[in-house]
Amino acid sequence: MPVGMPAADLPPPAPRSRPSSPSLPPPTSAPVVHGATAAGFVPPMIPEVPTLMNLAPEPGPGTSADPGAFYFLSGRPELPTAVPSVPGFEHRSVPRLSPVSPEQFGGERFYFLDGGGRNEVPDLPLDPHPAFDVHAVRRDFPILSERVNGRPLIWFDNGATTQKPQSVIDRLAYFYAHENSNIHRAAHELAARSTDAYESARDTVARFIGAGSSDEIVFVRGSTEAINLVAQSWGRANIGAGDEIVISHLEHHANIVPWQQLAAEKDAVLRVIPVDEDGQIVLSEYQKLVNDRTKLVAVTQVSNALGTITPIRSVIEMAHAAGALALVDGAQSVPHAPVDVTELDADFLVFSGHKVFGPTGIGVLYGKSAVLESMPPWQGGGNMIADVTLEGARFQDPPNRFEAGTGNIADAVGLGAALDYVQRIGMPTIARYEHDLLIHATRGLRTVPGLRIVGTAPDKASVLSFVLDGYEPVEVGTALNEEGIAVRAGHHCAQPILRRYGLEGTVRASLAFYNTRDEIDVLVAALTRLAENAGR
Ligand code: ALA
Repeated sequence: MPVGMPAADLPPPAPRSRPSSPSLPPPTSAPVVHGATAAGFVPPMIPEVPTLMNLAPEPGPGTSADPGAFYFLSGRPELPTAVPSVPGFEHRSVPRLSPVSPEQFGGERFYFLDGGGRNEVPDLPLDPHPAFDVHAVRRDFPILSERVNGRPLIWFDNGATTQKPQSVIDRLAYFYAHENSNIHRAAHELAARSTDAYESARDTVARFIGAGSSDEIVFVRGSTEAINLVAQSWGRANIGAGDEIVISHLEHHANIVPWQQLAAEKDAVLRVIPVDEDGQIVLSEYQKLVNDRTKLVAVTQVSNALGTITPIRSVIEMAHAAGALALVDGAQSVPHAPVDVTELDADFLVFSGHKVFGPTGIGVLYGKSAVLESMPPWQGGGNMIADVTLEGARFQDPPNRFEAGTGNIADAVGLGAALDYVQRIGMPTIARYEHDLLIHATRGLRTVPGLRIVGTAPDKASVLSFVLDGYEPVEVGTALNEEGIAVRAGHHCAQPILRRYGLEGTVRASLAFYNTRDEIDVLVAALTRLAENAGR
């Protein structure tokens, strides 16, 4: 290739098949060690046991009960062809996952609803038939065998980031060992491999969220960058003076600040849906806010600070009835339950790879084809152009139009591996299991003297925010860390909603499917000892 030849002059190589503080008194009982031995994690190279074999794959498109599809069966980290592309899935074939709804999030209505209101946890039996073998799952996550301050790590900071299964770690290593190249830019073999891996990951994302086409999937750094992309591309082109943007009081700063900046730039108006005492948005007030000046409604599906599952389908319907587009912040929902953008009829959905067991620095903007096609580029540079002269440029179609420069290729591939992993377990299975954990944790926390749960909406995901009498949240977080328990303490990048309850911070335990009831019991015991020592 002549030096200086525009990269885009080369057609992308055809996809090829892949080659083969306050201190706590000591606990009364030793915390339980799960999964791999505490002395060290399971060696990634030659696991004896196919670690996902004990799982019950969800039936239906995109899953397979074929044990050969599981990651470790081959006994060495050669990349089986089944890993990035789930059998039965072909390019742009897009089977649907169920849309998220309170009913489906836990396989049933959520716990407070049947209990008659706020702070009531009904006496429902916990699921006597656990959805899967959590101890087998835990062996897939080497970091869960770490010890912190002499105790087994208990990772309850999944809202901030999730841990990575060995299959993701190995997928990244495999990429750098066998596939590493820039994409779409050369005729050589490694460019073909990396392009194939990257575009396969895009296909996986499209299937995972029920998109109609892989062209609706834009890779970005994370949810924050995705929202900023929409604000600066779609927003600058479509929002004018006097136009209105609606968000909710629950939003993460990432779904507030870009709209404040856009509103200030365009002399537009930012309106906020209020939230009730339990932490749920008030739809009747929302109805009063939307009108023919409303151009965009941007609302989270799950609150990162409180765990509230919002009635996102109604939010979207009401936005559309007013002629507005709807953006869904899926950062805290996509990792925990099935989400289907087509069923939801979302115009945009954003999520972050690292919160769904994938790498940091990679995330997704979903946009409906027609909307993405109407949007101008956000950043300019290589990869996003069709042709450049010194006088001007023509741009690629989406999604390349929005992926200027060399992207995070390896981590996109790692994200694909993460989504493959959770699909093997099944998102409905994950949602059901986490719902069970949420009930167990809520019951447990309610036994701690002086502990107040903040966020008691009838429909909740597995996030428990609380304050403890006599302690600042950071003191609780520090004390729990001494016990090997990782929680987040602070404002959770959601100051407006905490201030709605007169708080500057809470302690937040956010759960994932690899957590156990035993771990929750360790947390409750530690908090109880703290509570008993308050003021001493
Ligand atoms: N948004 C992340 C959280 O809620 C960082 O912790």
